[in-house]
Amino acid sequence: MKLAVVGAGNMGSGIAQKMATEGFDVVLVDLDAQGVQRGMDRIAAVLEEGVARRLFTATQAQTIQGRVHGTHEWRELAEVDLVVEAVFEDVDVKRRVYSELENACRADTIIATNTSSFSVTDLASGMEHPQRFIGLHYFFHPAKNRLVEVIPGAMSDPLLVEKAWRLQEQLGKTPIRCADASGFVVNRFFVSWLNEAVRLLEEGVGNVPTIDAAAKAAFGVGMGPFELMNVTGVPIAMHATRTLEARFGAMHAPLPALVEHGTENREWDLGGAVDEAAFDAINEHLLGTVFQVACRLVDEGVGSVEDTDIGARVGLRWPRGPFELINALGIERAAALVEAVCARWSLDFPTVLAERRDAGAPFVFALVTTDIDNTGIATLTINRPDAMNALNPAVVEQLEAAFTAASTDPAVNGIVIAGAGKAFVAGADIKYFVDNIEADSIARIESFTADGQALFDAIDRCEKPVVARMNGLTLGGGLELALACDRIVAADRATMGFPETGIGIYPGLGGTQRTSRRIGVGMTKYLIGTGQVLTAEQALQLGLVDAVAPLEILDAAVRDALALGTGAERSVTTTPAQYRAVANCFEQSSYEDLLLRDPAKEGDALLAKALQKMPARAPVAIRIAFDIIESGAALPLPQGLELELAHLNTIFGTRDAYNGLRSVGGKPPVYEGA
Ligand SMILES: NC(=O)c1ccc[n+]([C@@H]2O[C@H](COP(=O)([O-])OP(=O)(O)OC[C@H]3O[C@@H](n4cnc5c(N)ncnc54)[C@H](O)[C@@H]3O)[C@@H](O)[C@H]2O)c1
Repeated sequence: MKLAVVGAGNMGSGIAQKMATEGFDVVLVDLDAQGVQRGMDRIAAVLEEGVARRLFTATQAQTIQGRVHGTHEWRELAEVDLVVEAVFEDVDVKRRVYSELENACRADTIIATNTSSFSVTDLASGMEHPQRFIGLHYFFHPAKNRLVEVIPGAMSDPLLVEKAWRLQEQLGKTPIRCADASGFVVNRFFVSWLNEAVRLLEEGVGNVPTIDAAAKAAFGVGMGPFELMNVTGVPIAMHATRTLEARFGAMHAPLPALVEHGTENREWDLGGAVDEAAFDAINEHLLGTVFQVACRLVDEGVGSVEDTDIGARVGLRWPRGPFELINALGIERAAALVEAVCARWSLDFPTVLAERRDAGAPFVFALVTTDIDNTGIATLTINRPDAMNALNPAVVEQLEAAFTAASTDPAVNGIVIAGAGKAFVAGADIKYFVDNIEADSIARIESFTADGQALFDAIDRCEKPVVARMNGLTLGGGLELALACDRIVAADRATMGFPETGIGIYPGLGGTQRTSRRIGVGMTKYLIGTGQVLTAEQALQLGLVDAVAPLEILDAAVRDALALGTGAERSVTTTPAQYRAVANCFEQSSYEDLLLRDPAKEGDALLAKALQKMPARAPVAIRIAFDIIESGAALPLPQGLELELAHLNTIFGTRDAYNGLRSVGGKPPVYEGA
């Protein structure tokens, strides 16, 4: 697959860099050699910064840069599959580019625009084949910010939209779907937030530092609206408010102070004393405005409640999106703030919020979506891309409901379990564990795990074929979920493992039982005892997954796997030669035996490495895991699973579990063995 970007400016160079980072060859086009060179230099500078921050090595940076081919020759776009236009925000310039692209590219090349303010449908109107056109709105800096708004135009071919969406996932992006409306999803409420801050300044409710400090406290963000405008450019904020005003009216008109600063490209003066007494008044306005705008865009079908929140979290790095903020504040209070905004601007009260107020209940977020295609295949997608689809009670509950519905629906003849974004499922929600240990509620963890086991059991016993679509990173509970399916089809980029004993616990959702029934006791003890991460190819050799395919044809491979029907009784796969020493040693040795062995004296490199890893991991967790792997393998599966559950209270009660779970993302603790 070959990709291209036209316009090697701030956005274009970053988009090309991201594509190259994900392994694609990219053609980067600008007007002339100088424009191209500027773009290449921008990429080199950002990569250099990445090397300095140890995000990649100098060699990796070189490889990435080497995948970007800069040119001003349109004919070099003849063979590209997707081209993203990121030229000046000028309709005529953009339309001329599309006409050049329609001449230069293949008939099936997807042409996308990164426009911030124009309508995708309008931009496509002069094209010969507008059905191949779509909006892909990236956020600055596009090599670092994962969010992309996917905006079909009125004439976009739905299959092309699907393809463009999948490609964004391949690029490691977090796509959200938006209707072709001014400001799309994120800028609509974000720019309103900025403009409202200026209104509060003009109305004398607070000075610049007070408004910034109040906003930081209420939204949990690192920078207030004025600080942020200074960083991203005040003129951009001014232009963006004008775009919204043109479509949505007076409420969005840029305030005189914004026009003044924007026109003169003058930064805000951030100096002065913070007056905390003004915080409440400021935040009533800022929150009320964001809530009103977010609810209205959902009412209009521009974006969903979930995507609006994902947009805020991923694109703006707000800890909580507008709807999570509404829930946190309480529906009644949020509704009162929105009512004040509506009264001021003579707007109707938004329906989505009225429904919640009438029901007296908070927003419930769809964490699992179901899509049934015309062949009767139901795809259940866990949609928490920014949390790498981690399992928590709400996800398990919704997955259970979706699975029950699909498995009992006579129109469904096969079920796919998938994860949105870059990961399949990266384990369980660690914060949930930590919070419950701190609240002395290990019983809740036990009941969450029992619910998870019951769901996985239903998946395992389902009479319809169930396939795990393992698109990327799969850890712990994610791997256990996949193992409960009839077949696992992994993307070649997927990696998987059981990290639990490294954080003080053991796999409790069937990992100690279903793994040994696929790959044997020795290999299971090895994987769980060392936390070794496998590539998809290694997992295939071992028999842990059933098929591997490049991401672009993963869906076809999943369909092939579904066609094989439900899984027959599994027998343990023969361990490949390169793992035999490890498998034998782990099968025959207790944890203590393994610790006594000297890695330096082992002839087998893999075994030596495995032994080196063990001492840093949690001893109680490994001992229990080994015990239940060994005893469980001799039992029928349901009893093995009971064994797994039986030790949860013990393991979550250890100091090692608490310290290990709290250490995630930081330095691992030294385990005490208690
Ligand atoms: N800057 C942002 O934060 C941001 C965020 C999202 C979207 N966007 C959108 O992305 C687009 C690009 O913005 P930018 O900030 O990167 O602009 P920019 O001015 O930094 O870069 C534009 C580039 O396009 C090149 N160019 C102009 N006409 C061309 C043509 N006919 N053929 C080839 N190259 C041409 C220019 O030489 C320049 O290098 C705009 O549509 C903008 O609205 C910008």
